[in-house]
Amino acid sequence: MNTQLAQGIDWVGYADWTVRDFHGYRTENGSTYNAYLVRDENTALIDTVKGPYAGTLLAHISAHCPLEEVRYVICNHAEPDHSSALPAVMKACANAELVCNEKCKDALSRHYDVSGWKFKIITEGETLCLGRRSLRFFNTPMVHWPESMVTYVPEDKILFSMDAFGQHISTSERFDDELPLGEIISAAKTYYANIVMPYGKTVMAALTKLGTLPLDIVAPSHGLIWRKHFAEILKCYQDWAVTKATKKVVVFFASMWGSTRIMAEEIAEGALEVPGVDVKLIDVNATHDTVTVTEIMDCAAFAAGTATLNMGMMPAMARTLTYMCGLRPQNKSYFTFGSYGWAEKGATAADAMLAPVCEKLRDPLACRFRPDASLLKECRAAGKMLAEKAASI
Ligand code: FEO
Repeated sequence: MNTQLAQGIDWVGYADWTVRDFHGYRTENGSTYNAYLVRDENTALIDTVKGPYAGTLLAHISAHCPLEEVRYVICNHAEPDHSSALPAVMKACANAELVCNEKCKDALSRHYDVSGWKFKIITEGETLCLGRRSLRFFNTPMVHWPESMVTYVPEDKILFSMDAFGQHISTSERFDDELPLGEIISAAKTYYANIVMPYGKTVMAALTKLGTLPLDIVAPSHGLIWRKHFAEILKCYQDWAVTKATKKVVVFFASMWGSTRIMAEEIAEGALEVPGVDVKLIDVNATHDTVTVTEIMDCAAFAAGTATLNMGMMPAMARTLTYMCGLRPQNKSYFTFGSYGWAEKGATAADAMLAPVCEKLRDPLACRFRPDASLLKECRAAGKMLAEKAASI
């Protein structure tokens, strides 16, 4: 496996083939925790891995140089997938200083016993000379934690971009020209939708700040390293940062005895009457929220349907909407629908959750017990209206 980004700069991270849950995000293809070793007169380790895999990280470093030669350990981001190996690393690399910003030091201090660590606190734009090479640090607050920063090597035009441009995917390849690009972009899109989506404004600020840097390689903390197709993923990020809508409609639902499903299918059929609009139909009881919110991210309009259960939504729809609204998708229009028996509460509760986040197209479309021909006609018309809204963007 080729791990070399440039002469003296190598990937030394951990490929986590079997992880399937990442704080609720279904990582169907595993992930990697990328760490990088920059060897020079002073050697620097950029980021670490999850705590249980510290031994593999240290073995990868040892393959390149003795651990005592590591002079600096850079922490771009304190989230435990990148920092929880630090206690083992700082113990094993006895001559290393921990390099981070003040906010990161505070976060690390609240996670670990740092009393034995030597810290070197850096500020925005500061440069650390390693010898022939240097490291320059840029804060990228709320992309996606307050202490987040990136590290740049100007001599090689390499940006260590932390979570930005990452993908949860585990492969034996390390570089973006070693796998089909569509596969990598798809993983990056799912990653953006589930991790980064609420921070579009701060992503745009970071892209603007870093956009002037000459870049040959962008090395994120997860997944493949961008050395050929960075322009393509950058364009995607510019669209995703504003959750740019496309001519796409998503109808997602949670049914109890089939009536809400019938309504959803009729709404989707109505949407399909409008040419040029992509239509997706999702049963949230059969689809992980990781997938559903990725479909939502680039749609123009959606319909959310739920039966009424115990004076509220079906639990699966409550879960999906809680997750989705937390990710704050922008530029979406919607309506809600669903069946009920004696109290119309489900679709109304869904509508109340969505109204502060998205543009409401109509009042909830409710059906008592089973939809009749008249109700189905209304569903079809509502679906067509949804697709016409998507077609108009
Ligand atoms: Fe990959 Fe925000 O940690």
